[in-house]
Amino acid sequence: MSEPSSGERAVRVSAASGAYDVHVGPGVLARAGAIAREAAGGGRCCVVTETNVGPLYADELEASLASAGYEVAPRLTFPAGERSKNLGTLADLLEGLAERGLTRDDVVVALGGGVTGDVAGLAAALYLRGCRVVQVPTSLLAMVDSSVGGKTAVDLPAGKNLAGAFWQPAAVVADVRCLSTVSPELFRDSCGEVVKHAVLADARMLDDLTRAPLTAPGVGEARLADVVARNVEIKRDVVDADERERGLRQTLNLGHTLGHAIESASGFSLGHGSCVAAGLCMVARASARMGWCSDETSARILACVEAHGLPTGSDVPTETLMGYVGHDKKRHGDSVNLVVPTEPGRVEVRRVALGELERIVELGRGARS
Ligand code: GLY
Repeated sequence: MSEPSSGERAVRVSAASGAYDVHVGPGVLARAGAIAREAAGGGRCCVVTETNVGPLYADELEASLASAGYEVAPRLTFPAGERSKNLGTLADLLEGLAERGLTRDDVVVALGGGVTGDVAGLAAALYLRGCRVVQVPTSLLAMVDSSVGGKTAVDLPAGKNLAGAFWQPAAVVADVRCLSTVSPELFRDSCGEVVKHAVLADARMLDDLTRAPLTAPGVGEARLADVVARNVEIKRDVVDADERERGLRQTLNLGHTLGHAIESASGFSLGHGSCVAAGLCMVARASARMGWCSDETSARILACVEAHGLPTGSDVPTETLMGYVGHDKKRHGDSVNLVVPTEPGRVEVRRVALGELERIVELGRGARS
C-alpha cells in the first residue's frame, strides 16, 4: 500500500451517521485506491465523472484503484456543467450502476467538482438503498465545501438542490494539484466560499487571505493544501456538531440568503461563490449599520472579498431579491434565519422577518462601511 507523502494531511470528520478522513495534499490522487481500500473495502468500484474532468484524471484514478486490488467497472461519464445536476442524470447513473452489476459492498468513486459530487453522492445514497462513495473533488469549491459533510442533491425545475439526501462519504481525496486545471474564473469564484469560512471561524485566515489572496500569481501547492485543510477543519467542526442542519450548520449559510437570490436573479450566469461573496458583503455592511458588528469588522470582510476580485454587492433591485428570498427553501413562514457576522471569525443566527430583511438589503447597498 502506498505511503502518505510528507505533504499529505488527514482531517477526521465525525458526523453522527459516520466518521471518515478527508485526505488533502499534492499528489494524493495517486493514493486514492489505497485510501478507498482502507476506508470503504469492497471488491468492485465504478468511477463517476463528467466530460471535462474525466479525460484529465480518471485514468490515473482508475490505475490507483486497480493497483489497490479493485476490479474497476467501466466508468460512467455525464456531460459537464450545472445543467446535468438533474433527475435525468441521476437516473442514468443508477441504471449504469445496475448494468455494471455493482453490489451494495462495492464503491462509487465521484471524480469532479460540486455537480459530480452531489449527483454521484445521491446515486450512491439511493443505489441498493445505499452503497459507499469516495469523493475525489477536483475543484476548489468541492474541496473546501461540497465534498465534505454529506449533502447530496439534484435540482428540480422548481429550484436548486430540492431533491437530495444526507449521505456521508467513506473518504474524501482532495489533491490540490487538480486545481492547476481549474479555470482562473472558476477558481476565483470558489474563493467566495473560502472567504465565507474565514469570516465564520478564523479571523487570522481572513487577514492572511486579504494580505495574500489565493488569486494572486504564484500561490504554491503547500499553501493551497494548508488553506484547503483549514477550510475542511472549519466545515468539519460544524458538521460534527450538527450533521442535519438543525442548528449550528445553518451558519454555513452565511452570505447564502442574499447570495442565492442574487444567483437566481442572474439566471445562474453569475457563479455561486461570487454571489455568496456579494451576499456576505451586503450582510456585513447592514450588520454594521444595525450595530450587530463594528464598522471595522465589516471593512475587514469587504477588504478580503475585494482582494480576491469578487463582487462586494449587487445592483439587482430589492424587490426582485425579496421575491427570490420568498421562495427560498430555507424560509420559515414569514421570516428567515439570517447568519450575520459579529466579529471576524464569529457569527450568529438571527430570525429576521421578511420586512426587516428588505431593510437589511437596502442597508447592505450602502457605501463601504
Ligand atoms: N454548503 C453548506 C453545507 O454543507 O451545509
